[in-house]
Amino acid sequence: MKYIEIKAPAKINIGLNITGKRDDGYHNLETFFYPVRDLHDKLTFELAESFSFHCNEEIVNNDNENLVLKSVRLLEEFTGKKIFVKIELQKYIPIGAGLGGGSSDAAATLISLNELFCLNISYNKLIDIALLIGSDVPFFIKAKPAIGKSRGEDLTIKEIDLPYHIVIINPGIHISTKEAFQNINPMRANINYDEVFQSVDSFQNNRDKIVNDFEDYVFSKYPEVKNIKDRLIDLGSEFALMSGSGSTVYGLFKEKITFDGLSEIFPKEYFIFISSPNY
Ligand code: C5P
Repeated sequence: MKYIEIKAPAKINIGLNITGKRDDGYHNLETFFYPVRDLHDKLTFELAESFSFHCNEEIVNNDNENLVLKSVRLLEEFTGKKIFVKIELQKYIPIGAGLGGGSSDAAATLISLNELFCLNISYNKLIDIALLIGSDVPFFIKAKPAIGKSRGEDLTIKEIDLPYHIVIINPGIHISTKEAFQNINPMRANINYDEVFQSVDSFQNNRDKIVNDFEDYVFSKYPEVKNIKDRLIDLGSEFALMSGSGSTVYGLFKEKITFDGLSEIFPKEYFIFISSPNY
């Protein structure tokens, strides 16, 4: 095999509780990760004589390091081999939006290079490497609905398909994850994710308990983000919440909702996406 093309999906957090600060400076959390498969970036990997990387947008994280390049670097360190590959990345997932786009691209890179170069790195080892790249990266190695604990790498997969249209709205406000973590007080979660996500019905029954601990800080700093949540509830969403540390807000709708209807309500510079159930 000389060539791999892969779709790197987005995610939303259905609930996000920050439960404590750790000695290593990170926080423990509890969340339910849900992949949004029809909103995805696209990556291609082709064997080459030298390394190259192209992207249709400029992408760097807070540490000024693009997560695809970081993934290649860590794989080279782990295997002790140079990886000569041509990588092309097409971004569709908004950047720095709480949708996990950069983390998903990183996981897609680990999986694809493991296969293309026959590196035979085990799933558990891939999770270890993924966690070195970022806290959300381990989830994307399988990208299946899962309860995430610890920094997000302690994953319990739940085979759930939410029977909802997921409306995703991003106002283009960039929120630093690090800053968001610095501005919240960790608290014990008042929800047991194992129970709530046993079935979709119990999720509906427990939805008032499902919160995102970052909302208070982000809503007070950027009232525009709270406004999106309020609009989604006005529009009839059964459940609406900010994803990750924002600024994306999503709403779960039983009835099909049209893009035109949403674009009349939200400013034209907003990113709007409607994910269909069972995509
Ligand atoms: O892991 P990631 O690189 O995405 O984290 C970005 C920053 O967010 C970290 O440097 C840390 O300050 C904060 N963070 C945290 N606890 C987590 C995840 C991230 O404190 N579980």
